[in-house]
Parts: sequence; C-alpha cells; structure tokens
Amino acid sequence: MSKNLAILTYGCQMNKYDSERIVGILKGLDFQLTDDLRSADMIMLNTCSIREKAEQKVFSQLGRLKRLKEDNPDLIIGVGGCIAQIKGDKIFQRAPQVDLIFGTLNIDHLSSMVREVEKKRGRVIGIAKDFDPDIQPPLTFRESQVSAWVNIIQGCDNYCTYCVVPYTRGRERSRSSSIILDEIRGLADQGYKEVTLLGQNVNSYGKDKSDGIDFPQLLYMIEEIDGIKRIRFVTSHPKDISERLMYAMRDMNKVCEHLHLPLQSGSNRILNKMGRGYTSEEYLSKIDRLKSFIPEIVISTDIIVGFPGETDDDFNKTEEILKEVEYDTIFLFKYSPRPETLAGSLSNHVPPNIKEERFNNLLMIQKEISLKKNKALEGTSDEVLVEGHSKKDPGKLTSRTRSNKIVNFYSNRDMKGEIIEVKIIRGGLYSLDGEIIERGC
Ligand code: 5AD
Ligand code: SF4
Repeated sequence: MSKNLAILTYGCQMNKYDSERIVGILKGLDFQLTDDLRSADMIMLNTCSIREKAEQKVFSQLGRLKRLKEDNPDLIIGVGGCIAQIKGDKIFQRAPQVDLIFGTLNIDHLSSMVREVEKKRGRVIGIAKDFDPDIQPPLTFRESQVSAWVNIIQGCDNYCTYCVVPYTRGRERSRSSSIILDEIRGLADQGYKEVTLLGQNVNSYGKDKSDGIDFPQLLYMIEEIDGIKRIRFVTSHPKDISERLMYAMRDMNKVCEHLHLPLQSGSNRILNKMGRGYTSEEYLSKIDRLKSFIPEIVISTDIIVGFPGETDDDFNKTEEILKEVEYDTIFLFKYSPRPETLAGSLSNHVPPNIKEERFNNLLMIQKEISLKKNKALEGTSDEVLVEGHSKKDPGKLTSRTRSNKIVNFYSNRDMKGEIIEVKIIRGGLYSLDGEIIERGC
C-alpha cells in the first residue's frame, strides 16, 4: 500500500536538487508525494544552516510537527540537509519527535535508513562524512520536465570566513565526467531541454580528478549532447573564473548568457577578512573582460551587508560597485554569525539596526536598477524556453530568456518545452510580460 510523503525544503538550489533525489528514492519505497502535512505518513525536512534565521525556521516547524505527531504517533519525521550534517544527534535532544537524521552526504543510504525506522520504530541517524560522489542514485524525481539540475561537484574548499558550507557539505569532490554526461544524455532522451550544472564552486570542477577534464572542457562535452538546447551553471567563484571559461562561454551556442558571480563586498578590507581571494579591482576587471567577450551577458550577484567590522566607508564601496556594475539581480543578505566559522568568533559585530539600514539602502538602489533594466527591454523580442503554467496566474505560461529573465505570457496552447520568440510588452521588477510573436507563412 502506498504511503504519503511530504517534504519541506529550505535553502539553496543544491538543497532543492537534493530534495528531488530524496523524493526519487522514497518513491522507490512506495511513497507518494503530498502537500498536505496532515495526511502524510512521513514528513521530511531538508534543512539549511547558511544563516541563523534559516535554522530557526526549521526548529519552529519541528515544534508544529510535534503537535501533528501527538495526533498521529505513527508519523515519521526526518531531518536531512545541512543542519542534520553538522548538528547530528543534537537534533534528537532538541526535538525528540524526530525519528531520522540524515546529513547532506548520506542521501544515498536513505532507503535503508527509512526501512530501519519503519521496522524498528526507533531513531536512526546517518551523518557520515565520507561518500563517493559517483554513486548518487539515478532515481531523482524532477519537478520540472523541461529543465533539470545536475550536480557536478559537491562541497567547497574555499572556507570563506563567514560560510558554513565547507562544514555542512565537506571538501570538494567532482563527479566523474562520464557519469555526468550519461545523466545528461538520459535527460535529453526524456525530453529535457535545459540543464543547470550545480556546485558550490563549479569552476573547481575536475581539480580533484586526474583525467584532465576541467570545467570548460566539461561544458564543451555537454555542448555536444543532442536534444539539450541550453546549459546554465551556478555558482562561480570570482577568483576561479578563467579566460578559458570566458572563451568557452563565448564560443558555445548552448551556454546561456548569464553568470552568477558573488561579489559579497565591495571593500578590499572586508573581502580580505572574508577570505575571498580577490580585490574589488580584480573582480571588476573580470567583469570587463567578460563583457568584452560577451557584450549581452547578464550578471547577478550575492552581497552580504554588516560583516564584522564593516564601516560606513566599506559599505559605501559596496554601494559604488552596485551602481557601477548595474547587476540585473542581486541576492542580498545580512551577515549572520555561524558558530562553526572563523568569522563567527569575531567580536566587532555591526549593530542590527545598521545592518538593516544598509540592507534597505542597497535594496532600494537595486530595485531601481532592476526595474530600469527590465523596462528597457519593453518592445524588444527574445527567445524563451517555456517552462509550464505560471504558478501565480495559471492562465499564463511562464518561460525564461537565455539571460535568465522570467517572461509570462498568455497562450491558448500548452507550449511546455518549446523554444519560441516573444515580444516583451512590460518590464516589471522581478519578471517580464510578453506576447507570442506570430510567424507569418
Ligand atoms: N551570513 C549571511 N550571508 C551568508 N551567505 C553565506 N554565509 C552567510 C552568512 N554567514 C550568503 C553569501 C553566499 C550566499 C549563498 O549566502 O552571499 O554567496
Ligand atoms: Fe561558502 Fe565561500 Fe564556498 Fe561559497 S565559496 S560555498 S561562500 S565557503
């Protein structure tokens, strides 16, 4: 008899991808996906610990689930992801309603862990740190039928001083190129049109392997796969963006003209304290170089405000770069001390009200820039890949330009998976409205 599974995913794209793997594995154990927590036999929380708030969200959700478990003592509650990997059995102490803890590096063993919980009705934990990146199960249950995430490298060796990821996802381990290529060929056979290659630092791909295939080389190999029309990748570290990658991006038809290049701070003093390995001048010169190769490139970034010791002067430098680069999109964060990290033990914290002020200041500047750039697209036409119906307005289809802009438009035909031309009729802050360009005969 099939059982109901609900999964709550917190955090980044890597976690969303891991959730697809978790669902895929559990479907193999006869679980069916539900959004209704009350009807679930098992609830999985795939957690994030990048900032304190993300962690708090998980523990307050666990508080609510405790009441559900009181009503239904057979309910199985599992905690996976980054919090599970670093906190381990401390979660059992804080939340005794939890039956299963499995870290980011233990998803491959989920089947046996779940079976064990079901059999024993006791607690099970899997937080081993060693894993083989090449035995990821092929059972991934993908939400989209058009665009798929494909992990190419796990972990991070950069140890930026604010960041918990090297502790939650371990050291860098690249998957074998043959396994990645097989996975993408399989996706193409299933009709997928787009792949997004995932890794904390995709530019490090292959450094831990001896076959000489680095990230640009991997891109060239994926470019050859029939059926795949678009290739994207996240995340790139500015210190590792090479000229070879820029050439590759310029020369390959399928690699989209979008790059997510986290700046974090515009101040060299703060960049140095963050351990980022580049100066703002080096960062800007890479962007200039990239634009000289690919003038239409769209760049997005991550910024942290309020890193310990950030002065008004440091902050102003970040503001200047934001105005100079004119990113299309930014992801803005207030610094959150993480206990495991080097910066977590620094004492010269920026007061919350100043962080808030700086955050709002940058947000306002960016909103103006994003809107200006999107408005400038009104009247132009562009090629989009149709992803499906819009969640907000099911009467519309939602699609993406190669530059990663969302375009919503009306259509009386389901065009999911098609690549078509649209005219942009309205540029909003986060998305564009378009209309289909009818082709004459
Ligand atoms: N506090 C605030 N933001 C953080 N990020 C990573 N660690 C922290 C932290 N401790 C941000 C960085 C990173 C993004 C995924 O999250 O900007 O690029
Ligand atoms: Fe974290 Fe830095 Fe690694 Fe990105 S590069 S995951 S910010 S340690």
